[in-house]
Amino acid sequence: MKPADDVIRQLKREAMAVIANAYSPYSRFRVGAAVLAGSGAIYSGCNVENVSYGLTQCAERVALTSAIAAGEQAGSLQCLLLYIPGETAHAPCGACRQVMQELMAADSVLVSCCDTDEVRSWTVSEYLPDAFVPPA
Ligand code: THU
Repeated sequence: MKPADDVIRQLKREAMAVIANAYSPYSRFRVGAAVLAGSGAIYSGCNVENVSYGLTQCAERVALTSAIAAGEQAGSLQCLLLYIPGETAHAPCGACRQVMQELMAADSVLVSCCDTDEVRSWTVSEYLPDAFVPPA
């Protein structure tokens, strides 16, 4: 379920703050994310790159894994907000969508925002239709 506007504003504040810690010497692209957990706590993350490019961690996955490491239950995360400075509300990468689908609540929402009023949002089935289901 999409959180109230004040929760979205709070998530955006957190995502904008954590971007100061982004480690992106290769792309020079800074990304911030914040996730609202079932407990009501908010966890944030920034992108952390690596010289072996494939080991780069996206902001969304840093926020999600921080929530799990803090003891939040997989499947209980309510809303993840992605913030990328600029004039475009970007869509997240495919790897992050797969991790979101696993850790976020079935009725959770993904929100993307930027420095304009543009806001995009997706449900789980919108951002990852026909997700992989492990064999029984
Ligand atoms: N990045 C994210 O943090 N999240 C996304 O959804 C897409 C890309 C990061 C990874 C890399 O550090 C930089 O943005 C450029 O791809």
